[in-house]
Amino acid sequence: MLAVLLLVGLLHVHVKLFQPQLRAEVQGPPVTNIMFLKTHKTASSTVLNILYRFAEMHNLSVALPSGPNIHLGYPWLFVARYVEGALQAGPHPGPPRQFNIMCNHLRFNLPEVQKVMPKGTFYFSILRHPVTQLESSFTYYKDFAPAFRAASSLDAFLQAPHRFYNASAGLRNAYARNSMWFDLGFDGDAPAEDAYVRARLAEVERRFQLVLIAEHFDESMVLLRRRLRWRLDDVVAFRLNARSPRSVARLSPLGRERALSWSALDWRLYLHFNRTFWARVRAELGPRRLRAEVEQLRARRQKLQTLCLQDRLPRSGASIADPQLRPYQSGDADILGYVLRPGLDKATLQLCQRMVTPEVQYMARLYSLQFPQKPPKRIPFLEH
Ligand SMILES: *[C@@H]1O[C@H](CO)[C@@H](O)[C@H](O)[C@H]1NC(C)=O
Ligand SMILES: *[C@@H]1O[C@H](CO)[C@@H](O)[C@H](O)[C@H]1NC(C)=O
Ligand SMILES: *[C@@H]1O[C@H](CO)[C@@H](O)[C@H](O)[C@H]1NC(C)=O
Repeated sequence: MLAVLLLVGLLHVHVKLFQPQLRAEVQGPPVTNIMFLKTHKTASSTVLNILYRFAEMHNLSVALPSGPNIHLGYPWLFVARYVEGALQAGPHPGPPRQFNIMCNHLRFNLPEVQKVMPKGTFYFSILRHPVTQLESSFTYYKDFAPAFRAASSLDAFLQAPHRFYNASAGLRNAYARNSMWFDLGFDGDAPAEDAYVRARLAEVERRFQLVLIAEHFDESMVLLRRRLRWRLDDVVAFRLNARSPRSVARLSPLGRERALSWSALDWRLYLHFNRTFWARVRAELGPRRLRAEVEQLRARRQKLQTLCLQDRLPRSGASIADPQLRPYQSGDADILGYVLRPGLDKATLQLCQRMVTPEVQYMARLYSLQFPQKPPKRIPFLEH
């Protein structure tokens, strides 16, 4: 008994000694000026939901697409006028208006982003393994990217990509090759020469404080939360804009190899930032703490799934009756959505609704809140 008490006492001292240090690391107010470069087909819609919710809860301004647009000019290189209300009219316009959060699809262009985002903004992004990223892109943009349209399958496309892909066919083909490299503002058709690649990687490294990895989404959220000094619930999210398993195809091993050489720039990008991601996790958290925080995050998500959702799993988007919760369907992909449990009390309903609102509807809602005098965004896919 005495031994146990002594041990408990010792542990207590031990914990006390270490706690102030742990706290010190995460001290300070939460970060509220944030630029998220939303890459394509990388779980970035789930990150978008996290940022939208935080913005709404804290009444932060969001750099939203202007007028009827749903992207910040993508796939054109970003310029400040793509943001609603950024530029003032008149013969002597003042400097552009600045915003707290920027997170809609855009092709990165730092000098223009800096016009609308304050000094000291936290920049981050997310990357995914280029094989699965390309596979997802193929399914989603099958009818949109000219390079994909004529190909019967991704394997067929990769056997002879130049038969389908034409670099001068315009920006719609940006989805078909090195799409993450392109989103960062670089040339997706550039040869993957070492000096060129290294210089661009160093540029990304300098600008983005954090590059997350979709394959390690929960670990990414743990690291993100720590950097932003947010609460646990702020980074808990349900997977959004995901496909049903039946619209996920698998490439042959040869196809995978071909995909990596076809998207060689994305592959270099991914390898580099997967390495730096884990180096950061190791330096800032250590394995035990990481495991504990990931478990905490998963437990909270499960709890919210039980609380919010009618059946804990997402369902086929087309079958969702509530238009506010029905996700946009694209290409050959069956995009999943959620149905809320009936009978939720008002506060819970609000929380749950925010967590399952698809990105287009959420964007439209924030737009109306932020610009009540402007015509509301139309959501064409809900109109027919
Ligand atoms: C939210 O912020 C806007 C300015 O961005 C301000 O006019 C409004 O009063 C704020 N609302 C609340 C509830 O804080
Ligand atoms: C590529 O597209 C350009 C512009 O549309 C066209 O002029 C050219 O013939 C195309 N090349 C191939 C190989 O299809
Ligand atoms: C990413 O990093 C992890 C941890 O170091 C490693 O296990 C994994 O193989 C890496 N992925 C790739 C594709 O290199």
